[in-house]
This record gives sequence, C-alpha cells and structure tokens, in this order.
Amino acid sequence: MEAIQIAIDGPAGAGKSTIAKRIAKELNFIYIDTGAMYRALTYQVLQSGISLQQEEKIVQLAKETDIMFENGNIYLNKKIVNKEVRSNNVSLYVSHIAQIPIVRELLVEMQKRIAANNNVVMDGRDIGTNVLPGATLKVFLTASVQERARRRYEELERNGTLVNLDDIAEQIQLRDKMDAERSCSPLVKADDAITIDTTGLSIENVCKSIMNLLNLKAPLVNNN
Ligand code: DC
Repeated sequence: MEAIQIAIDGPAGAGKSTIAKRIAKELNFIYIDTGAMYRALTYQVLQSGISLQQEEKIVQLAKETDIMFENGNIYLNKKIVNKEVRSNNVSLYVSHIAQIPIVRELLVEMQKRIAANNNVVMDGRDIGTNVLPGATLKVFLTASVQERARRRYEELERNGTLVNLDDIAEQIQLRDKMDAERSCSPLVKADDAITIDTTGLSIENVCKSIMNLLNLKAPLVNNN
C-alpha cells in the first residue's frame, strides 16, 4: 500500500509540533519535526563558532552533519539534542540558516527520503508545497501572534528560561516575516491545504478536526 503522508505547515507557535506528535502517536505513524532539523544544524553552527555570514562554511558543516530522529528524539551527530534545539539562542538564528538554498536542499532530500517508505506526519513551513507536494492530507495551522507568543513563552518557562512576553512576540513576528519573505521555499499555504486557526481551540479539538479530514481523504487509515 502507498505510504500515507500528512503535511502540517504554519508559522512559529501555531501548535504544529504538539498536534503533529499527537496525530502520529494516535495513528502509529513516524513524526518528523523538520523545524528541529533546521534547529539542530543552527545549534551546530553556533557551537562551532562559524558566523552567519560564512555561508560556504555553513553548507560544508551541513554536509558533514548527521541529523536523525529515533523514538521521538532528535540526534545531532549521534547525541540527543532535544533541549538544546529549543533554546532561545537557536530560535533567534534559525531563520538565517533556513534561508540558505543549499542547506534547504540537503535537509529536504533527507525529509523526502524518510517519507518515501513510511507513513509520516511531517511538520514545517514548506512540507505541503515543496517536500511532500503529493501528501495525502495537507493542513495549514495558524493562530494569532499574541497566542503564539504566549505558547512559546510558556514552553521556555517550562524549560527554565525567563523571557519577556513582548520580546517573544516581536521575535515571532520577525521570524514570520523572514520565513514568509525568503526567496527559497517561503512559508506559504499550499493551494490544496486546509487552514485551521487554532486560536482558542484545545489540542484535542484540533486533533479531532484533522482526524476527521484524514478520514475523508483516506477512510481506512484511522479505523484499524
Ligand atoms: O517550527 P520551528 O519554529 O521549530 O522552525 C524553526 C525554523 O526553521 C523556522 O524559523 C523556519 C525554519 N523552517 C523552515 O524553513 N522550513 C521547515 N520545513 C521547517 C522549519
């Protein structure tokens, strides 16, 4: 049977990873957090002291860097970096790294390879438009800037990082702008994606809506 691919795109803090993780668990699919891949590479760049202007060195590092997922963990050169990739410093710089065309090519190739032979839920910015244009179901998640900033603030607080909510809102808006305006695979809704605004919605309700949509596209998947 052909692999089932669920693409979930949207701006930072729209709830993509929380929702995608739940859906993958429910369906026993592999969850691929593509943002975490760009974050892992950004972490590696920051650790190695390369400046953001040194694109050639960044590309070389990307070629030598091993990024993979196993049992819900992200590995960077065989080391689990779940917490490191969520740091505020990585969030500040990741959009710069993600706009380098060859970096995108390398990571997109990896993402396509994983999705080719597996049932996957993949979240990111360009999944429905570029990585998996033939995905079984495409969802575009959005939420207001205030709500997205609050979620990110709470996530950082849980990790023990104290930040200012207004600063986070400003960073989110800046990241939205960079992600939407970059020339290579910008954040844009695929024509055939279904938009869900998650502002004020519970995680359960968003998951239910997505399962219902999947049921329409691939009726047998969530009945086994
Ligand atoms: O989803 P996130 O906030 O963890 O993503 C981190 C950054 O990576 C985000 O600013 C944009 C970039 N990204 C991307 O360009 N393409 C993807 N498929 C996923 C993330």
